[in-house]
Amino acid sequence: MTVCEYRAGLEGIPATQSSISFVDGQRGVLEYRGIGIEELAAKGNFLETAYLLIWGDLPTKEELELFEYEITYHRRLKYRIRDMMKCFPESGHPMDALQACAAALGLFYSRRALDDPTYIREAVVRLLAKIPTMVAAFQLMRKGNDPVQPRDDLGYAANFLYMLNEREPDPFPAHIFDVCLMLHAEHTINASTFSALVTASTLTDPYAVVASAVGTLAGPLHGGANEEVIVMLEEIGTVENVRPWLEKQLAQKGKIMGFGHRVYKVKDPRATILQQLAEQLFEKYGRDEYYDVAVELERAVEDNLGHKGIYPNVDFYSGLVYRKLGIPSDLFTPVFAISRTAGWLAHWKEQLNENRIFRPTQIYTGLHEATYVPIEHR
Ligand code: ACO
Repeated sequence: MTVCEYRAGLEGIPATQSSISFVDGQRGVLEYRGIGIEELAAKGNFLETAYLLIWGDLPTKEELELFEYEITYHRRLKYRIRDMMKCFPESGHPMDALQACAAALGLFYSRRALDDPTYIREAVVRLLAKIPTMVAAFQLMRKGNDPVQPRDDLGYAANFLYMLNEREPDPFPAHIFDVCLMLHAEHTINASTFSALVTASTLTDPYAVVASAVGTLAGPLHGGANEEVIVMLEEIGTVENVRPWLEKQLAQKGKIMGFGHRVYKVKDPRATILQQLAEQLFEKYGRDEYYDVAVELERAVEDNLGHKGIYPNVDFYSGLVYRKLGIPSDLFTPVFAISRTAGWLAHWKEQLNENRIFRPTQIYTGLHEATYVPIEHR
């Protein structure tokens, strides 16, 4: 039975009810559990944001300390996971490595005690704790180096940068990275979160839920756009080339990476904050050679596509921040996944509270009563 009109990409069709985050795409508002993203980014940190998203309230001091302690304790990887990663091809994309590793965690923690709050807590902690270690370990191993062990005396963001770059970061870049993690932690029912929900609704384990979401985030129309933005800025090269390049791209009906959003019809509030963070970093550590190109591209896209509501999204300025933090461009999307794991887990938990398996309908456009033609007659 068809109950409503078919909309490609399910545009505008509610697929769930949720109290985790809210977006107003006309006003450029994003709230996590009712708190504006600007306020959280200015006052909070990533782990308390993750706690807020997953458990619904800001943690007390004691709750946050316990959560941080548990995450720190679970950061290490089993040597079998590291050995598995050693067999991955160096040329493989880190998102594929991450998806495989997230799924492999299910081999070690295979219980599906979805009604047991201890199991839920442990799964949340393990995934948040181990995913950054996996991303950093793959980066070092593909260069032929041993992975660096996590350091218990460093916070979540600083420890990741330490494991990645093999040196302790200054507090300022570590703080900026922590803010980036907060900004990417959750964004209603986007493609990867929807993928997580569908997987969760079968009552499979949370490692499979996160692995399916990682696979979905990897595409260039979703989280993979941040990597494509840098490729695009490199291709444009100079401020003078921005408008001729854009003209050509639009004539060929090409998409401009890092622009446009299904929900936002104004500049994504996260892009505004990321641009400010980029400027703060450049002031202290030197300007990125492509920043002026990016700013000019924003102006040119606004002039040409502003009437369609095409403005920078979260992926546009994030790459420039990550480059300054020493993160290679093919790790931009895995870094997004580190952060978005918080949102996926929040939705997983919410889905379990009132689960019904996803089983939408379709509009069949194929044949009926077709004839089977034997192979020799085809
Ligand atoms: N560059 C040029 N034109 C665009 C862009 C863009 N980046 N985005 C949308 N448009 C145009 C389309 O060509 C279309 O024009 P038309 O109506 O004249 O045919 C119109 O705007 C609507 O675009 P759709 O692709 O139908 O919008 P949709 O909501 O399906 O897609 C998406 C949203 C996928 C984000 C799209 O804007 C896009 O491809 N952007 C580039 C990739 C990107 O930056 N993705 C990251 C998104 S944020 C995230 O996932 C974390």
